[in-house]
Parts: sequence; structure tokens; C-alpha cells
Amino acid sequence: MTSSPPFDVIVLGAGAAGLFAAIAAGQRGRRVLLLDHAGEAGKKILISGGGRCNFTNSDCRPDRFLSTNPHFAKSALARYTQHDFVALVRKHRIAFHEKTLGQLFCDGSARQIVAMLLAEATAAHVDLRLSHRVTGVSRSERFRVETDRGAFEAPALVLATGGLSIPKMGATGLAHDLARRFGLAVVPPRPGLVPLTFEGALLDLMRPLSGVALDSVVRCGKSAFREAMLFTHRGLSGPAILQASSYWKAGEPLLLDLLPGRDPATLLRAARQARPRAEPRTILGEWLPQRLAQALAGMHLPGQRMADLPDRAIQAAATQVKAWRLLPGGTEGYAKAEVTLGGVDTAALSSRDCQAKAVPALFVIGEAVDVTGWLGGYNFQWAWSSGWVAGQAV
Ligand code: FDA
Repeated sequence: MTSSPPFDVIVLGAGAAGLFAAIAAGQRGRRVLLLDHAGEAGKKILISGGGRCNFTNSDCRPDRFLSTNPHFAKSALARYTQHDFVALVRKHRIAFHEKTLGQLFCDGSARQIVAMLLAEATAAHVDLRLSHRVTGVSRSERFRVETDRGAFEAPALVLATGGLSIPKMGATGLAHDLARRFGLAVVPPRPGLVPLTFEGALLDLMRPLSGVALDSVVRCGKSAFREAMLFTHRGLSGPAILQASSYWKAGEPLLLDLLPGRDPATLLRAARQARPRAEPRTILGEWLPQRLAQALAGMHLPGQRMADLPDRAIQAAATQVKAWRLLPGGTEGYAKAEVTLGGVDTAALSSRDCQAKAVPALFVIGEAVDVTGWLGGYNFQWAWSSGWVAGQAV
């Protein structure tokens, strides 16, 4: 028994991608059922960007996405661009601003973005049903979704239940599990955009610096990010570290430049000559946050006055400031990860519309797919773009 009027498509997951796919399909006259187990749609949108939602990036480019196939995202990102989303935001008269590095935020609240999406969904006659726990999905002639509040059927199914990040908010591996059951490969998921943890002497050094933030360049392999970094009671966080974390693999070192664009060895030698009586921590504190300057001076610049410093001490301090090589112990995991790397293998999907190649009318979109953006509005843009292309095809 099904308890539903006839639907053309069922979308599982009323997050960013699912809402957008449902809207696009509804605008094309498709009868859309949008199901979610949460009691509210777009919960991650509401908490995103510190409550202001960094909804896209004005400089969105495919090379800002990680995937086993770096070309996969190109088609969807070109078909529904950041400019298209900005036009929608403008149409709804939502005020926004560019914060930094092309990141676009609401002036007011992320709630405006959710309200905009819900208004569009209502206008497109999307049947949104919340608090529905999915208990089974099968396919014979049509897809059949069983829930604790009845069963629903449709000829097309869109998996948009996201990744594993923030289980406390209701994240589940449903999309990955269902994809596997339909024979689609899943690239092993792991936490991305996540704070890094350290152990032993490094943690002893970092813990007292908790709360200290500074401009930095953080390198991981071939990737480098110049943004703020932050010491925490478990290790390191802040945008530069989060960005690098998506590229980090266990056992790999990070390289930190704590004084981007300046040469600390030259600066320290000049200070030794010009201000021989000054304390090293005072000099370092003119370029770095006080607490960090004090810690570094304690480690590398013994002695009371600049005049007492041998060249090798200056060189050791300069190396730590300019190219501090650190081995993270791990990450803070899905509980703190903004995104999930990996996911449904792009090789199983058409890049044009995110449809499963081997299972016609099954689509996978958003964070559930092995496409992960940088910090800065890229992940929402992927949700909008992948949702929109699927919505054109269902
Ligand atoms: P999303 O997770 O949004 O939605 C999945 C939906 O499926 C949810 O509504 C969930 O309830 C539902 N669901 C899950 N399991 C289910 C099940 N078993 N049955 C039924 N329903 C189920 N990105 C960005 O670009 N700019 C930003 O400012 C931020 N900020 C940010 C802050 C924080 C704290 C986090 C955790 C993440 C961000 N992100 C971000 C990332 C961004 O939120 C994320 O990439 C998108 O929300 C992904 O959209 P999806 O629709 O794919 O998944």
C-alpha cells in the first residue's frame, strides 16, 4: 500500500541540494515529494557561516573542489553558476556582502536563505514532508520509499541526504548505503574542513596558546592556503588549517609560515643591531601575537637581550616562524568536520545531471557525492549546481 498521490520524483533529504533539486524539478511541472527525517528543512544552512550563510563564492572555479575525478564538477558548476544563485538571492531582496576571498554572506541571517528556498519550493508545488524516517528503499518498476509514516512511490529518486559531518544534527550515511545497495561504488568517506589534533610535546606547546589567532600560510603537500589560523586546546584550527585538513592524510606533515611575506631572520638580525638591549620576546611580539612570541622566544631565543643572541639561535627561531614542520596526530572527526570528503564515486554518475549510469532515474547530488569544495561558499554552490542539474533531468 502506498499512502501517496502520484509523484514523478522523490527527493530524499531537504538540505541545500535536495531543496534545490526539488525546486528545479517542480518548476518544470514535475510532481515532487521531498522527504526528510528532521523536523526542519535546511538545518545546516541555518548554522552555516556563523549564522549568516556563506551561500556561494563570487570566484567559484572547478579547481577549488576535491574529487577523485577533478573534472566531474565542471559541467554542473557551468550549467548553474554562482551568478545564477546570486541573481536568485537578489530577486528575493536578501542583502549580502563579500567578506573576503569572494565569500558572499547574508547581511542578516542564514534564515533568509532557508525562507527563500521554502518560498521557491512552495511556488513550485513541492510536497515537503518532514519528520519522516526512511526505513527502506527498493526498486521494481518504480522506486519505493518506506517510511515510518507510510510508503511512497515514483519513477525517479534523488539521493540528497548529505555526508557524515555533524551526526548530532542528523547526518547519516543513508545516501552512501543506498548507493552501495544499487551497485554504485563509494569512495571511502573521511572528515574534511576539520580542526587538526596534536599530541605530546607539540600539544603541550599549543594548549597554552589556545585562542591565539594569526595570519599564516599553511602548506600540505602541493596545496597552500593563506588565511587565519588558530591555536586550540586540542591543536590547530582556523580557516587556513581547515582548508589544509581536506588535503591532509595521516602521517603527512604540515608546513606553517607564521609571518607571510616577511623574512624573520633578516628582521631579527636587523633588530639585534638596532636595538641590542631589547628582549627577544618584545621584538618577536611586534610581528606575532604576544603569547606566541613569548613561547617561541622561550624555545629558541635564550638570553635577556637581542645582543646576546648567536646567529644559530636566530636561524632556529626564523625557521620555526617561517617553515614550522608539524605532524598532526589526527582530526577532530565528523563531530567537528564541516564536510565529508569522498562519497558516491563520480565514475558511477553522469557529470551532466548526476544520474547513475547503471541505474536510470536514480540521481545522487550534494555532499553525498565525492565532490568537496574549499571553505568559502564552495560547498553550497556544489549543492545548488548539482541539485539544479538533477532537477532539470528528473
Ligand atoms: P545537507 O547535510 O545540507 O542535507 C542533508 C539532508 O538530508 C538534511 O536535511 C538531513 O536531515 C537529511 N537526512 C540525512 N539523513 C537522512 C535520513 N536517513 N533520512 C532522511 N533524511 C536524512 N558550506 C558553505 O558553502 N558555506 C558555509 O558557510 C558553510 N558553513 C557550514 C557550517 C557548518 C557548521 C557545517 C557543518 C557545514 C557548513 N557548510 C558550509 C557545508 C554545507 O553545509 C554542506 O556542504 C551542505 O549543506 C551540503 O548540502 P546537502 O544538501 O548535500 O546536505
